[in-house]
Amino acid sequence: MSGSWELLRFPIVNDRRGNLTFIEGSRNISFGISRVYYLYDVPGGSFRGGHAHKELEQVVIAVSGSFDVHLSDGRRSEVVSLNRSYYGLYLKNLVWRELRNFSSGACCLVLASHNYDESDYIRDYDTFVLEAHRERVG
Ligand code: TYD
Repeated sequence: MSGSWELLRFPIVNDRRGNLTFIEGSRNISFGISRVYYLYDVPGGSFRGGHAHKELEQVVIAVSGSFDVHLSDGRRSEVVSLNRSYYGLYLKNLVWRELRNFSSGACCLVLASHNYDESDYIRDYDTFVLEAHRERVG
């Protein structure tokens, strides 16, 4: 893990009827939740993401199935495999992410700190590396 991302483990309420996991904004995660979206029916072999965000923070959850999240903060890279619904991958701003290797039936739930705003996206990798460097050196 890195200062730019962190694997979170959420509470599980377990009883005979099954498991329940809950996430409260600003409690189980560091930000208030403004938006929820989810990816599903992802065809085998296709990938999602391929961008970073200037300000947005997110938590990515494999609520069913599995997929891999390829991460970079411009200096360090890591691949995090998500396959349990009680784990969430927290992504700070200025993290390049690519979601790959979706299993059949996978559902990727994303909790986001802000509403959708295309101007918050960095979709070009070289621009991202420059922005991340600029942020580090202040
Ligand atoms: P994008 O974030 O590029 O998808 P991904 O990173 O999962 O590959 O979004 C794809 C399209 O969906 C883009 O045209 C914008 C739209 N979109 C919304 O309208 N609202 C949203 O909350 C999100 C995440 C995307």
